[in-house]
Amino acid sequence: MSKIKEIIIGTNNEGKYKEICSLLPNEIKKYSPKQFGILTPEEIGTSFEENSFIKASYFSKKTNLICLSDDSGLEIDLLKGEPGIYSSRWSGEKNNFNLAIKRIFEKMNNIKKDWKNDNVAKFICCLTLFWPNGKNYLSKGIIKGRISTKKKGKNGFGYDPIFIPDGYSKTFGEMKSVLKMSIDHRFKAFRKIRKFFI
Ligand code: IMP
Repeated sequence: MSKIKEIIIGTNNEGKYKEICSLLPNEIKKYSPKQFGILTPEEIGTSFEENSFIKASYFSKKTNLICLSDDSGLEIDLLKGEPGIYSSRWSGEKNNFNLAIKRIFEKMNNIKKDWKNDNVAKFICCLTLFWPNGKNYLSKGIIKGRISTKKKGKNGFGYDPIFIPDGYSKTFGEMKSVLKMSIDHRFKAFRKIRKFFI
């Protein structure tokens, strides 16, 4: 199998773009949709898998490059899996995660008074590799944890300040990025497609 030498990373989300770049070997030439002036397609799928596939096939067809795309999000058991595939959309047009996090706290407080020590959440990531000839490969990674009652830490992006992975007492937002990126949902999904690059 010949290894991938150049790739478009199918996301316009800066946080994800950085994480995916750092998972890939340095010598691979990486492009972003921004460099081609391509906007993200509408995510009309009903699952992480479908939305990841929609983005990968779209960016690959537009550029004739192999595309690696990510669809990911946070599922909270108390909220019956919300925000889920709507994780990005909860932050509104301005990507304001203070608002999204406020909404999570409000909803959780409405359902249960004291959820501090008794709540379950998980981050999910679906990565799709799509080749211009239509070949594709999908892989999924999950990290389980819980929601912190307060936002903590300035590292990372999105919901990182409120997610505490199982086995740790710090939120992703408080962790050094190298640690987060060596245990998270994206890393777990990437492990299964590493063979195409290295
Ligand atoms: P989408 O995959 O572009 O629909 O966006 C996924 C959204 O899920 C992001 O905008 C983040 O809000 C959230 N998300 C996914 N992965 C992470 C992560 O590693 N840390 C924090 N938030 C994440």
